[in-house]
Amino acid sequence: MEAQDNIFARSEGDRWFERNRGALQTFNPADDMPLKLMEFYELRPRCALEIGAANGFRLAAIQRRFGARVVAVELSEEAVEDGKSRFPLVTFVRGTASSVPVQETFDIVIVNFVFHWIDRLNLLRTVAEIDRLLHDGGFLIIGDFYPSNYVQVPYHHLPTGSVQTYKQNYAEVFLSSGLYHPVCLMTAHHASKKPDAEVSEGERIGTWLLRKEIQSHYISSEINGNHG
Ligand SMILES: C[S@@+](CC[C@H](N)C(=O)[O-])C[C@H]1O[C@@H](n2cnc3c(N)ncnc32)[C@H](O)[C@@H]1O
Repeated sequence: MEAQDNIFARSEGDRWFERNRGALQTFNPADDMPLKLMEFYELRPRCALEIGAANGFRLAAIQRRFGARVVAVELSEEAVEDGKSRFPLVTFVRGTASSVPVQETFDIVIVNFVFHWIDRLNLLRTVAEIDRLLHDGGFLIIGDFYPSNYVQVPYHHLPTGSVQTYKQNYAEVFLSSGLYHPVCLMTAHHASKKPDAEVSEGERIGTWLLRKEIQSHYISSEINGNHG
């Protein structure tokens, strides 16, 4: 079966962009969960990368606010073409999350509503790529559906059932490595994107702010230290 990342690269990325092009034009930074978290914690990145950045609308706001160098990674050719004409200060790279053609590292990496479409064969490669692209001491923002269990839903825009939406807590993968520390989780309602303390589990989304700290979580111990 064709990997679903290829299906998004070939057609579904463009189709998502076509469906959402109008809504993206009315983007209000004040309502955006990743930007709210950055504001709340007074993060001031000098460089930021977003994976699955669409036309770069969020990065353009980050560039305007902080004068940061911003790099957008996106599969959809249409989204990239639109972004290049609309936001000339955003650098666009057409590529996939599991193999990002960028060598530098960043103060902030954002992955908002992308993980749920990553082919399961490429999930850990994607995690490794994100980790590679983030400085030690940098911040990772992950937004996605936030059920209590692992949930798989057929992607309703493709009736063939060849694409699934995988809903789970993606921050856990990073946290369980011991290399990331949770700064904050904000929950909200999927349709309105507004914070909602009583949102039902099926409608709940979560936006995580994590900090990468490679050494600081280890407690030194001399006990059982003779392992050769
Ligand atoms: C639901 S949209 C979210 C867009 C944006 N991040 C936001 O917060 O609104 C998912 C985006 O990720 C892109 N995408 C899907 N799979 C991807 C992959 N494997 N690598 C990079 N981008 C991907 C899609 O083309 C689309 O632009």
